[in-house]
Amino acid sequence: MSDESRQNPEQPESDDSRRTFLKVAAGALGACYAGGIGYPVYRYLASPVEKAESVAAVNEVTVPDATSIPRNAALMFKFGTKPAMLIHHEDDTWTAVSAVCTHLGCTAGYDPQEKRIFCPCHNGVYDAKTGANVSGPPPKPLDRFNVEIVEGKAVVSRA
Ligand code: FES
Repeated sequence: MSDESRQNPEQPESDDSRRTFLKVAAGALGACYAGGIGYPVYRYLASPVEKAESVAAVNEVTVPDATSIPRNAALMFKFGTKPAMLIHHEDDTWTAVSAVCTHLGCTAGYDPQEKRIFCPCHNGVYDAKTGANVSGPPPKPLDRFNVEIVEGKAVVSRA
């Protein structure tokens, strides 16, 4: 023991208090550090899952100014995070389908010359009114959405 602690009988108790304080402070600091590191890591890892869930939860998208789309033309838009297209046909009817090709996932587009949906990756062809696969490698139709024109906007919802 040092001379100081012999002279002061309170010293050992003071050392214990200091040790306890330091342990608590170190524990609190460790918890803050773990939280500071852990939370961003958790957010980074969890965000794709949460995004996928929120995208899957999208059931309706409103396309503003839809009526400004000329006949025999289409507008690409996003349904959740996936590309989709809203087609205004010459007979003033509307079709909304996913633009994700069912073959290998390329983005298909409207072809106004042929009045069809065309995927340039492997020449996949879909019917513009129904999204049915017509020719080429696509194995199934495009996902089709309901369309309702309300006050110049197109309300596109899951079928
Ligand atoms: S990805 Fe569309 S036809 Fe192959």
